[in-house]
Amino acid sequence: MANINENYLKLPGDYLFPRLREKVHLFRTQHSEADIISLGLGDVTQPLPPAIVMAMQTAIEEMGALETFRGYGPARGYDFLIDAIIENSYSSRGINFERNEIFISDGSKCDLGNIAGIFGTDNLVAVPDPVFPLYVDTNVMAGRTGSMMPDGRYDGVVYLPCTAESNFVPVPPVLKIDLIYLCFPNNPTGAVATRDDLSKWIDYAHENSSIILYDAAYEAYIVDGHIPHSIFEIEGARDVAIEFRSFSKSAGFTGIRCGYIVIPNQLNACTKSGEMVKVNPFWERRQNTKFNGASYITQVGAASVFSPAGFEQTDEIIHIYLNNAARLLEALTKLGYTAYGGRNAPYIWMKTPDGMHSWDFFEYLLDKAHIVVTPGVGFGPSGEGYIRISAFALPENIERAVERLKAVT
Ligand SMILES: Cc1ncc(COP(=O)(O)O)c(C=O)c1O
Repeated sequence: MANINENYLKLPGDYLFPRLREKVHLFRTQHSEADIISLGLGDVTQPLPPAIVMAMQTAIEEMGALETFRGYGPARGYDFLIDAIIENSYSSRGINFERNEIFISDGSKCDLGNIAGIFGTDNLVAVPDPVFPLYVDTNVMAGRTGSMMPDGRYDGVVYLPCTAESNFVPVPPVLKIDLIYLCFPNNPTGAVATRDDLSKWIDYAHENSSIILYDAAYEAYIVDGHIPHSIFEIEGARDVAIEFRSFSKSAGFTGIRCGYIVIPNQLNACTKSGEMVKVNPFWERRQNTKFNGASYITQVGAASVFSPAGFEQTDEIIHIYLNNAARLLEALTKLGYTAYGGRNAPYIWMKTPDGMHSWDFFEYLLDKAHIVVTPGVGFGPSGEGYIRISAFALPENIERAVERLKAVT
């Protein structure tokens, strides 16, 4: 009989969001009249802007005509999108990349999950705590960890505490780590990293020959001029970092699926015998073997985000979510809650009142206010005693949620 990858057995069955959905479903069946407001999931609510819809419609027409039909595209993505990314996301900030340093994908989740596959299983991995669960789970699957310990952490993974005292930005450890996941603006805490914060990590990575896996999925939400949008804004990052970007939250592509990964040509890793190898060709080989590219229609849609109309329309949508976050943050603070994030990010990270457990406060809000939030402990043990509130909602629902919060506080 075939053997299974037993690393999967180390993973708990109840992944955060299925468990959350199950609880909400149960509540709905018991309270069919309840008008539930969801501030739980990190999924966008605004439709695609017209400039993107029009661009994709034109691409569909092209696919339906003999002269312009396209079959398989380049696995790394079309040059028209790669060029638009280089120009708009990087050159405009004084960062220059070659085309071969950008790889288009069907979203950051796959890139962040698959990246583990090009690194050896004996690398020591560090993750922020609380953490976007994907970073940990994919390393468990890859056999890079031991079992889950009683406190919910995995043996063999280094957890970098992100606490209110350090503005939820992890501090480089004394220990030598090989692969470090960082995410700014952060999901779930809504924290952002300053140039100084990132410089410390770049220095650390240089000193320890580490590689930083920098998840910038929420970069488009940065409004404060001094906050870096890319790790490559920091000197020395090209030697030690890979960046992950997504059109999901910047342009409403959660259902369309498009992202990209930036692997600088000068980024090296080493073989067991100590030989230095470039990382970029390993990812290229991986993609050429296991991926056939994001669809042409998707990539045309993604490129249209950088057109003047696309930029203006996506920016308007981002500001709807940012205004939601600001409104929530203001209301929660007035109500006496301790809340973080909500600026430069679509998430608010709130302390539960009276030391309540995350799931208990989740149940309380669902039961008393019919509001769904995400229990912080779902993002790791350090998330216990917090909830994450998502600003991805219609503004009128944010107002209604604020009224309900007032009533139950
Ligand atoms: C921090 C973070 N990274 C990556 C992703 C995945 O994004 P995508 O939709 O591009 O797969 C998400 C999605 O919620 C996220 O919150």
